[in-house]
Amino acid sequence: MDKIKWAVIGTGKIAHTFAEALRGTDDAQLYAVASRTKERAQSFADEFGFEKAYGSYEELAEDSSIDVVYIATPMAAHYDNAMLCIKHGLNVLCEKTVTLNSGQFREVLDAAREHDVFFMEAMWMKCRPTYLKVMDWINSGIIGDIKYIKADFSNFIPYSPEDRLFRSDCGGGALLDLAVYPLTLTHAILGMPDEIITDAHIGADGIDLSNHITLRYNSGAFASMDSGFEIQLRNNAIISGTNGFITMGNWFHCTCEAALFDRQCRQLEESNIPVRVNGYEYEIDEVHRCLRAGVKESSMVPHAGTAEVLSLMDKCRAIWGMRFPQE
Ligand SMILES: NC(=O)c1ccc[n+]([C@@H]2O[C@H](COP(=O)([O-])OP(=O)(O)OC[C@H]3O[C@@H](n4cnc5c(N)ncnc54)[C@H](OP(=O)(O)O)[C@@H]3O)[C@@H](O)[C@H]2O)c1
Repeated sequence: MDKIKWAVIGTGKIAHTFAEALRGTDDAQLYAVASRTKERAQSFADEFGFEKAYGSYEELAEDSSIDVVYIATPMAAHYDNAMLCIKHGLNVLCEKTVTLNSGQFREVLDAAREHDVFFMEAMWMKCRPTYLKVMDWINSGIIGDIKYIKADFSNFIPYSPEDRLFRSDCGGGALLDLAVYPLTLTHAILGMPDEIITDAHIGADGIDLSNHITLRYNSGAFASMDSGFEIQLRNNAIISGTNGFITMGNWFHCTCEAALFDRQCRQLEESNIPVRVNGYEYEIDEVHRCLRAGVKESSMVPHAGTAEVLSLMDKCRAIWGMRFPQE
């Protein structure tokens, strides 16, 4: 079987973690990396064994030998980086949050369709075995109708004006960086809500340092989520139905542990699935499966799900009055 030739754009923190997963995946070829400087690209290529190092994203996009590009830049750069790759006919796996807003995402999808390329948000949570196990439990009906979800993602991160997380020009803020996970989990289970009740603490650069979101459904279901950089939470999740509930361990979006309980709080089953490499290999597997099958959209991370979660984030920001300078 031919290996899939991967290219990486951006050489920051997540690019390193992802490259480790690529290195641990038998049918992935670490082919090319691009940075805004040739030195950083070369040092990244040397560290992981990529064959080519490009000193600009544009140079990488000209390389037609690439099978798929992983975009690992700050949120505000995703739209331009994705468009660059797509217009050169390259398949794309783009980090979350995939664009700043749903309008940008529609344009990216239109371009992907026009150029007949594969495009997927790097929503690794949805590809992980534990998440899939939880979805199996829910779909089996064993916990009944889902009435409540609580999922948090809040980490204390000291304020640093240079960090992309705190910069509006980078698409910073807790909503796009962290809340995207609880929102994606809730949306996958309950779909689009009938009402959003939300507030945020907006910091000096006009981006949210913490936020609370409640989604209300006419079915009587509620979902509650807290995200931010100002406090540390346990970051676990509980999904509760009329017949029982499911817990997802700390760092619910990347946990290996989940448990199923009945209404009397008796544990019925537990799942503990250790990762093969570092957890990112499952989204790589999914990209490989799609490319080999010749499909342009992942069924695990479908475009409609990404688009609807983005539209929820648009609505939250509209309620808070938060806009990015690019908008
Ligand atoms: N899936 C996950 O678990 C996970 C975890 C963390 C982050 N992420 C996502 O991955 C993306 C990158 O996050 P990160 O934490 O890796 O960020 P980071 O450490 O700041 O790295 C971002 C990289 O993007 C490039 N870049 C391009 N334009 C830039 C700009 N204007 N300012 C700063 N860097 C720029 C830089 O690489 P060069 O200088 O080499 O071009 C930089 O090293 C974000 O979308 C984030 O949401 C995902």
